[in-house]
Amino acid sequence: MTQTPGTSTTTSAPSLSQAEDATPGRPLVSVRGLTKTFGDHRVLKSIDFEVPVGTVTVLIGPSGSGKTTVLRSLNVLETPDTGVIRIGDVEADFSTAVTKRQKKALRAQSGMVFQAHNLFPHMKVLQNVTAGPILVQHRKQADANSDAMQLLRIVGLAEKADQYPYQLSGGQQQRVGIARALAIKPHLILFDEPTSSLDPELVGEVLEAMKGLAAQGWTMVVVTHEIRFAQQVADQVLFMDDGIIVERGTPAQVLTAPSSQRARQFLRRLLDPL
Ligand SMILES: Nc1ncnc2c1ncn2[C@@H]1O[C@H](COP(=O)(O)OP(=O)(O)OP(=O)(O)O)[C@@H](O)[C@H]1O
Ligand SMILES: [Mg+2]
Repeated sequence: MTQTPGTSTTTSAPSLSQAEDATPGRPLVSVRGLTKTFGDHRVLKSIDFEVPVGTVTVLIGPSGSGKTTVLRSLNVLETPDTGVIRIGDVEADFSTAVTKRQKKALRAQSGMVFQAHNLFPHMKVLQNVTAGPILVQHRKQADANSDAMQLLRIVGLAEKADQYPYQLSGGQQQRVGIARALAIKPHLILFDEPTSSLDPELVGEVLEAMKGLAAQGWTMVVVTHEIRFAQQVADQVLFMDDGIIVERGTPAQVLTAPSSQRARQFLRRLLDPL
């Protein structure tokens, strides 16, 4: 996907996204030498990758390989030990002292969609989507509402704006979670196994919503085991094992003809778990 939201002619993301980077040709995201240790466990052992603007990166790998830790580092929910993360114009070098302000600025560059749709149960759908813009970004309620309605239309849930989360299916709740992540107008959207807690028949609608976002040019990093989604939507696939990116390339390279034994074994198990 190369179309940027700013050039989209659809009714959706353009006015809502800030995903265009100021420097042409420069990747939106650059991660260099990222390391993270929990206790004496080196969870990330020098991770490097780039994400061009308007593209989809899919991160796959066995349980415990460090995928969530990479996403949480990008969103600075985790503070890396060393390494440089740049998203848009905000860069932090974690080998040096990074201030709270720098962390906050970096965090504001991305929105995160978690495995389970952790919506506020006491708030209606619309309020769930506008909470970040109004409470954190201090945006006017009328503007936040109209942007939120536009996002709910994108994920196909405009008619549910006035309902409470318990009145929605799991798939619908997860799509509200996606609208909520987009509402803060991030440069980058991070998805951590967004369909893994859903019943199988609800997975498709969430993947379709994500495909729609990709087609509109949102820049996305997605941890998922949905290989068909990766094949259809990813621009690059990163295969992680034990804190290292072992393999990277197009879906055809990594998913269809992986060169490492480890990736071949992982994909075989994924496609044929029994
Ligand atoms: N806060 C933490 N404290 C201690 N260890 C942690 C913490 N977070 C993650 N880990 C460990 O780091 C390793 C990588 O975890 P991570 O959640 O990044 O893996 P993952 O690839 O996302 O796995 P999964 O596919 O199961 O979600 C695991 O061994 C995990 O137990
Ligand atoms: Mg994980």
